[in-house]
Amino acid sequence: MNNSNEYTQTQPILQEPWVKLANGSDLENWSRQDEIAYNQTNRQCQKLAFFMQAFDFLTDNKIEGDYHEYGCHRVRTFRMALTEARRHNLESMKFFAFDSFEGLPAVESQPSHQVWQQGALKTAQEEFWHLIKEHGIYVDSCQTIAGFYKERLTPELQQSFLAKNNKIALACIDCDLYESAVPVFEFIEPLLQEGSLLYIDDLFTGYKGSPVKGVAKAFAEFQQKSRFKFAPHIQVGWWGRSFITYLDD
Ligand SMILES: C[S@@+](CC[C@H](N)C(=O)[O-])C[C@H]1O[C@@H](n2cnc3c(N)ncnc32)[C@H](O)[C@@H]1O
Repeated sequence: MNNSNEYTQTQPILQEPWVKLANGSDLENWSRQDEIAYNQTNRQCQKLAFFMQAFDFLTDNKIEGDYHEYGCHRVRTFRMALTEARRHNLESMKFFAFDSFEGLPAVESQPSHQVWQQGALKTAQEEFWHLIKEHGIYVDSCQTIAGFYKERLTPELQQSFLAKNNKIALACIDCDLYESAVPVFEFIEPLLQEGSLLYIDDLFTGYKGSPVKGVAKAFAEFQQKSRFKFAPHIQVGWWGRSFITYLDD
């Protein structure tokens, strides 16, 4: 389940079923709260395992550039990126947090998640900064870009990144909806370089896992237009995957 060495089993279990399984008495009082904590712990462990590998990949392949996150909410993945960047001593990396800080926009694409309503998943900018400062890693290298993507990700903003030659090393796209992902892909295209990693969190989320709906649909459309190709890289849980950006020339 997890490819982090922290979870690698080193002591054999000497009887069937050969893995440690909770039994009826362990789960006698198992509640909905336990279920939520169990899922969250499993999911965040798998995301952290991804970030460990992603930064190792970037460093080993000498991919320089910045971290972009589209969808920051509780700052879980953003803090993972900061921690792993620090572990690789990436002193010159910049960390851009793109979010409305007002939650989801008006929802247009009929997702299967009832909770994905306008305003859901809101974390205000003050709370974002509180969590970043409390975390205490590369705080001065972090920048928020607040607003809904459709209006905020303008050609002028794109141009300001290009003018400073700010390329993407790793982009984490975690904005749930088809209509949110479309402008994100358009925005990042000129900022990508050979070796940029794209982590797409919601490939199989929110539209009954359909590969032709939601963020997966936005990514498929983007691949038709982009000058780059994208090699499937690391599978992250049941929901996401990273891709390596490359040129086929
Ligand atoms: C699933 S949460 C991100 C979780 C986050 N990566 C974490 O680890 O805590 C989705 C986020 O995307 C943002 N978002 C979704 N669509 C957006 C849009 N069109 N414009 C701006 N922000 C958007 C929401 O505000 C929310 O913070």
